[in-house]
Amino acid sequence: DLLDQINKLEDLFIVDTQKLKEVTDQFVSELRRGLGQDDATIPMNPTWCMAFPDGNETGTFLALDMGGTNLRVCEVTLTEEKGEFDIIQSKYRMPEELKTGTADELWGYVADCLQQFIEYHHGDEKIEQLPLGFTFSYPATQNHIDHGILQRWTKGFDIDGVEGKDVVPPFEAALAERGLPIKLTALVNDTTGTMIASAYTDPLMRIGCIFGTGCNAAYMEDCGSIPKLAHMNLDPSLPMAINCEYGAFDNEHKVLPRTPYDIIIDKESPRPGQQAFEKMIAGLYLGEIFRLVLLDLHQSHDCEVFAGQDISKLQKAYSLDAGFLSAIEEDPFENLSETHDLMQNKLSISCTKPELELLRRLAELIGTRAARLSACGVAAICKHKGWETCHVGADGSVFNKYPHFKVRGAQALKEILDWPENKGKGKGDPIEILPAEDGSGVGAALIAALTLKRVQQGQ
Ligand code: BG6
Ligand code: GLC
Repeated sequence: DLLDQINKLEDLFIVDTQKLKEVTDQFVSELRRGLGQDDATIPMNPTWCMAFPDGNETGTFLALDMGGTNLRVCEVTLTEEKGEFDIIQSKYRMPEELKTGTADELWGYVADCLQQFIEYHHGDEKIEQLPLGFTFSYPATQNHIDHGILQRWTKGFDIDGVEGKDVVPPFEAALAERGLPIKLTALVNDTTGTMIASAYTDPLMRIGCIFGTGCNAAYMEDCGSIPKLAHMNLDPSLPMAINCEYGAFDNEHKVLPRTPYDIIIDKESPRPGQQAFEKMIAGLYLGEIFRLVLLDLHQSHDCEVFAGQDISKLQKAYSLDAGFLSAIEEDPFENLSETHDLMQNKLSISCTKPELELLRRLAELIGTRAARLSACGVAAICKHKGWETCHVGADGSVFNKYPHFKVRGAQALKEILDWPENKGKGKGDPIEILPAEDGSGVGAALIAALTLKRVQQGQ
């Protein structure tokens, strides 16, 4: 019966303390491998963002954010007042078709948004060339901060002819075609932006994390601990932000407790074999995991789930998003009437009470697994660096909106790091994951400002 099914799902999805520790230990060695060699599973990309802000940064910068749910353009003015800034911004839709269209369409659309922004906010006013911090949230190999060779698309993007190439020249060409007075100063990952923006207001910040459409983190390393940069003879004491790109953790499938559903997600994705960790955790996939489980329960012979119902809507891939799971986890009613209505309205499936209970438990299992596994990445960075206390800045739709994500993550950190009983509640924990300041706005602007300063100082 359904209780049996729930028990089986629990066996598949619950990750116990022992497993969390095992995953974290493997994670630490993979992070280290990535610092040592160019072709490791976790890329550990040097970003050439080589300082924390000190609050004295000034100037006006454009910031462009591409790679989460929205496309966003900001104009950030870092004022003379230490640590303060003004910001204006516009959000644009990121059309779904664009993600699998052509490179020309992508860069054309992004440049059109920048043009609209400038026309709207500056009209006919004559403006000098504005420096731009471009938050491009995909893995990129950078030899300089104002360039980046796309290693591979992630998060469902699949645009031909971009991977393996520098993304900056075609982007700049699209700006030039429109005669826009913009100079790309820094190409930034959202995790690096998040870390820098958060460090601007909190000196204890060491790590920036995204739990959103994708899942990743950046932290400040010292050049002397990055063997793959040894040939560059950098001052070993200089800081270097590393964009881990740890969504790729365990692409070899050595340690993560994958279920048959995770295997299907991977196989059906545009990049099978990539982003193994991310595909179990990130917002893009949570609803899809849920859908695949339900489909399987319906189809397997010994189960009565949705017996006699028309499941054609449930058969559509990616028809459920993380918001759907959030809503189920948030259903406040004992009889789960909101879940009932959701299933009815979205999927035209009418659920029985035991089915509703199964849905609720399944959402909990998937959401909890995501939060617990995601803590392994943060714990691994801290273990690698020997940090016993620090602040971690986090952003993204899952972190900000998914119910209980923060408490579940804090509880997992406690289990992994063996904190005493009274810890693991979030606030006041030795390692505390806090909502970040605006990484792709203020963070990108700060990184552009720090870059101009470094150039002026001739470093
Ligand atoms: C936003 C940041 O708030 O979160 C972006 O400004 C980041 O830079 C995004 O990419 C990630 O979240 P999501 O849920 O939009 O992928
Ligand atoms: C994906 C991207 C990475 C980004 C993360 C969060 O993992 O590859 O660059 O930081 O999503 O948006």
